[in-house]
Amino acid sequence: DASDIEKGTYPHYMLKEIDEQPLAIRKIIQEYQGQDGKLNIDPSIVEAVKDADRLYIIAAGTSYHAGLLGKQFIEKLAKIPVEVHVASEFGYNMPLLSEKPLFIFITQSGETADSRAVLVHVKELGYPTLTITNVPGSTLSREADYTLLLHAGPEIAVASTKAYTAQMAVLSILADVTAKSKGYEPEFDLIHELGIIANAMEVVFEEKEDIEKIATEYLATTRNAFFIGRGIDFYVGLEGSLKLKEISYIQAEGFAGGELKHGTIALIEDGTPIIALATQESVNLSIRGNVKEVVARGANPCIISMKGLEMEGDRFIVPAVHEMLTPLISVVPLQLIAYYAALHRGCDVDKPRNLAKSVTVE
Ligand code: G6P
Repeated sequence: DASDIEKGTYPHYMLKEIDEQPLAIRKIIQEYQGQDGKLNIDPSIVEAVKDADRLYIIAAGTSYHAGLLGKQFIEKLAKIPVEVHVASEFGYNMPLLSEKPLFIFITQSGETADSRAVLVHVKELGYPTLTITNVPGSTLSREADYTLLLHAGPEIAVASTKAYTAQMAVLSILADVTAKSKGYEPEFDLIHELGIIANAMEVVFEEKEDIEKIATEYLATTRNAFFIGRGIDFYVGLEGSLKLKEISYIQAEGFAGGELKHGTIALIEDGTPIIALATQESVNLSIRGNVKEVVARGANPCIISMKGLEMEGDRFIVPAVHEMLTPLISVVPLQLIAYYAALHRGCDVDKPRNLAKSVTVE
């Protein structure tokens, strides 16, 4: 049928979409590059962002995880405070809003009911809204004041992959363009660094066989798995654990390395897989300290580090990229680990049980 043609030679949409990530990053650079070769965003959007005294990012699922990283990018580069909220909770736990908020909705599909409910509510309150979505003309795009597109191409697999990296790329561009418009000197050349990311993704793809081995070694029969990281690695761990639970049904949890001792360490048994991320120089030693703590209790550690920060015994090393952008590369082996784990456990990779691609009910 038609869907088989679209999948081409790929056994699953998810694998195809993982592989399309370098293409998506390059397309985003192209789409957001102006005539002068510089990154460019519709000036009315940049003005709306600059005009706000605080940004409120609203999202669900994987898009929420991208939002957590978007906050880091925007606060670091553009120096505007950002809050990130789970859409379904926002209604009950509405924070005390700043005087001039701008609401940013991150949604791959542009159709998530929980996010739309917040959009409708804050529009009634008269606040400006921006939707970052992969689908032009989607509900949240039509109903918000402004839209930024992801340009990732259609995402079919229920487990989101290329939309997540595209969301982070677009958020980094928004942060960069806003920063420059505020007169801040760029600390680095974002176009160049995103190009490095696209190439680095291709380097990781060459190691698929090894990543498949990691999946079978650590996750073939386990009931649970933990992802740990510190700083921005923590947020990538959240996404890695979501990917794994969504499609392999392994009970997976992501948490901050420092939180281990406050509870989760009680769950460590002989052989419990711990996937640890080490891409940040500032926390490299402390995350490795956390790994030692779990190994002493019998855990089976899988350290994924970045070139330049690697140490003996690390299980997978991603190429070096700019330290702010490491989530765009460190998530790739996690996506592939989830994919191969699900495959080897006989799960329906593209259509996991109980899940829908977009959830249009509250
Ligand atoms: C569903 C999907 C997730 C997705 C979430 C938010 O739960 O299964 O993969 O992250 O919705 O979707 P959105 O389209 O708003 O990004």
